[in-house]
Amino acid sequence: MKNILFLLGLLVCGCFVAMADTPVYLDETKPVEERIEDALNRMTLDEKIAVIHAQSKFSAAGVPRLGFPDLWTDDGPHGVRPDVLWDEWRQAGQTNDSCVAFPALTCLAASFDPSLARIYGESLGEEALYRDKDMILGPGVNIFRTPLNGRNFEYMGEDPYLASRMVVPYIQGLQSKGVSACVKHYCLNNDEEYRHQVNVIVSDRALREIYLPAFEAAVKEGGTWGLMGAYNLYKNEHNCHNEILLNNILKGEWGYDGVVVSDWGGAHDTDQAVKNGLDLEFGTWTDGLTMGKTNAYRSYFLADVYKKAILDGTYTTRELDEKVRRVLRLHFRTTMNRNKGVGFMCNEAHYATARKVAVGGIVLLKNDNNLLPMDVKASKKILVVGENAVKMMTVGGGSSSLKVQREVSPLDGIRNLVASINPTAIVEYQRGYVGDVTGELDGVSTGQNLNESRSPEQLIADAVAAAADADYVIFFGGLNKAPYQDCEGNDRKTYDLPYDQDKVISALAKANSRLVVVGISGNSFAMPWKGEVNAIVQGWFLGSEAGNALADVLTGVANPSGKLPFTWTKTLNDVGAHALNTYPGTWREGKDIIDEEYAEGVFVGYRWTDKKKITPEFAFGHGLSYTTFELSSLRASGDLSGENGTMTFTVNVKNTGSREGAEVVQLYVHDDKASVERPYKELKGFAKVSLKPGESKDVEISIDRRALSFWDETTNGWKVEPGKFTILVGNASDNLTLKTNIKIVK
Ligand code: BGC
Repeated sequence: MKNILFLLGLLVCGCFVAMADTPVYLDETKPVEERIEDALNRMTLDEKIAVIHAQSKFSAAGVPRLGFPDLWTDDGPHGVRPDVLWDEWRQAGQTNDSCVAFPALTCLAASFDPSLARIYGESLGEEALYRDKDMILGPGVNIFRTPLNGRNFEYMGEDPYLASRMVVPYIQGLQSKGVSACVKHYCLNNDEEYRHQVNVIVSDRALREIYLPAFEAAVKEGGTWGLMGAYNLYKNEHNCHNEILLNNILKGEWGYDGVVVSDWGGAHDTDQAVKNGLDLEFGTWTDGLTMGKTNAYRSYFLADVYKKAILDGTYTTRELDEKVRRVLRLHFRTTMNRNKGVGFMCNEAHYATARKVAVGGIVLLKNDNNLLPMDVKASKKILVVGENAVKMMTVGGGSSSLKVQREVSPLDGIRNLVASINPTAIVEYQRGYVGDVTGELDGVSTGQNLNESRSPEQLIADAVAAAADADYVIFFGGLNKAPYQDCEGNDRKTYDLPYDQDKVISALAKANSRLVVVGISGNSFAMPWKGEVNAIVQGWFLGSEAGNALADVLTGVANPSGKLPFTWTKTLNDVGAHALNTYPGTWREGKDIIDEEYAEGVFVGYRWTDKKKITPEFAFGHGLSYTTFELSSLRASGDLSGENGTMTFTVNVKNTGSREGAEVVQLYVHDDKASVERPYKELKGFAKVSLKPGESKDVEISIDRRALSFWDETTNGWKVEPGKFTILVGNASDNLTLKTNIKIVK
């Protein structure tokens, strides 16, 4: 009896010791990779299958038995999308799922200011935490190849170097809060029309030099934890399970250790999904079921059918375990991360970030006779014209649509600021034209009534009559977030401004020479009236603080410092993709595939206009200021020979005007002689510097060997050819006033 009691005692103690013994996967002192293996070894086949595909529109199951919570994703990329129902696109009807809308990514790119991308990411991360999201579906870095692309507003422009420099701090800022980025859409998703059917044919050189660098930087420098495959195909394989792009380049060459998420409905085949690098399947429109039909999730390509194939021996668990490892790694970085930040929603700091980014990215394109900034103190009447002065732009555009607590319209922003500067000045509004009067997406409505009974002629006549005695006429036009404008799913049909806005602008220009045209869009458009208008501003989609930021810039409270992140061509034909007639591609006989050949190769944007000696309407990197800057005394130091060589270029920048302002110094590389046809110049460095009147500073920009190299298709690698290179420096791609030569010996 005594012995039995003793044994029992031992057993109880043993239990206590075992309970006190934290399992390895929960032991934070252990390396994450060990914790992953431990958790993996404890999981059943069903649990493993459950974590690699969606269980609702935006979530994937965790491992409840082991204490891993569900993983919640959400769009992205400009704010946290409102919650939809578990299994439907309709709204969940929450009252606490609003957000701050940050400016669209074209604006962020136009700021040429990586420090703004960092605070953008941090603020967004805090909003995501408040909303209990573990992964934000963004940022997007598909290259601006055609101004017709309905989703350019969600991306970072035409230049791979600019997009790379801006995406890295966005990711780092977001992830510093314990919220994963999901960089999208990898890759070659450069237009929306037929996005599920487009098979892109592109040279290896263009792929590596133009379309991949921003993703590569996101992985290697940004350390992104998530990446979304694109809908389209490359080499006849869908990009959500594409052997070359995912297995070979992303996970092989770049050593990516995060998850590959399918775009919603981007997976098409179990075998390819198993073998070709997809880790987490979302949004699949399963066979025989309608889109989003309740509980379709077990019919996903990586669900029951995959389990069955493992059980019948078609696959071992090798691929499955690799996917689960990546998903568990994501959990340790997000849901299981005890060092996450603290969530806040719609707080003043986030609005301040939104305003700062918006102000930093607004571009002053033209300012003849120094029409801007407006002299509000001396004004009696300011006329604001145009639908985009009042239309809410945060609702619409597709998956990036938001539900905000506040969106300051341009008209309200101007009214408020003018009232604070000169209460006697009148701000009058005229509609000018009717564009899109809808304002609803998936059940979120702007609540605006934009119906109008006047005829187009009457609207113009009324605006013109009001313009005659105005000190300033500010026209807000451009595009909007309605289908076939700046909107997911389709592309624009023409390069022209819609709704006959050209007529309104020309009529206003005739009535009053003090006309300012402000474009609200994520894309360029034709400007047949450019010569008739003294001032033109590009105002993007600026989110919650749109009106305040625009008012700041128009009145000179802030000095514009944004630069165009793409080439603003005069016509569509000045764009390589259109000049060569390669867009949208050619349907394959009897097949549901459209081949789109990127025949312009690496000559995208300014690389094309340089090659063809086309003068654009406004060049890449162009943007004016209310002050003037002088760049001088370009000096070089360092050595670029040898693998790790670097050189630093120093430029003196002086504010020669009478206002404080910021200038973006841009450095382009020209290869004097190469064995392949190279772009005349390529952006390889930039720095934004703020200066008080009269102040000057030295600005340093460093480059490495990659900046001089091209992708050598014969050796499948980056190559620097010895010889002379010219370094061109200035404040716009068409205003490079300083240059120096460097010689590479080997
Ligand atoms: C879009 C993605 C988005 C996803 C989820 C897709 O249609 O292409 O960018 O993240 O939907 O809303």
